[in-house]
Amino acid sequence: MDLKEHIREIPDFPKPGILFYDISTLLAHADAWQVTMGRMAKAARQHQPDVIAGIESRGFLVAAPLALKLGCGFIMVRKKGKLPGTTIKHTYELEYGQDTVEIQEGAIEPGQRVMLVDDLLATGGTFAASVELLRKVGAEVAGAACIIELAFLKGRDKIDVPVHALVSYDQ
Ligand code: PRP
Ligand code: MG
Repeated sequence: MDLKEHIREIPDFPKPGILFYDISTLLAHADAWQVTMGRMAKAARQHQPDVIAGIESRGFLVAAPLALKLGCGFIMVRKKGKLPGTTIKHTYELEYGQDTVEIQEGAIEPGQRVMLVDDLLATGGTFAASVELLRKVGAEVAGAACIIELAFLKGRDKIDVPVHALVSYDQ
């Protein structure tokens, strides 16, 4: 199955000139979603993860069912200020300004193998920051996986673990 047939392309979102790859139509299609999660599981299994970490917010949609499929626990990498209790933060640079990702203290035991999951890899800033965050809490980041890679942005060059993408776009 060609998953691209189920990913809607929306021009000029969120800004004029940007082509947005929308996974809503993929999620809504029972067979395409089943195939997507099967392929994600195949990619992730190679790395024998103990835990699946999903990146807020669209990454949760992929990471939680993946964890169930693999019989792993699921943990959340969230944007700033959303998690209760003591958290560990990692701040990273954007083109304009900064952003912060957070995880709860104790969410991961040191040495656990973590598969990091998001819906889409663009500049790689989000994945790279999340890898750093997971390492801060002692995780061994076994790999990263996403549905869509915007290959022309060369984001994977920023990520020093194996990266799996189910579909790739060159523009
Ligand atoms: C999008 C996407 C990835 C990230 C990729 O999330 O879901 O998480 O951007 O970009 P990067 O590779 O350039 O860092 P967004 O911040 O739009 O938020 P959302 O997932 O909450 O919709
Ligand atoms: Mg996101």
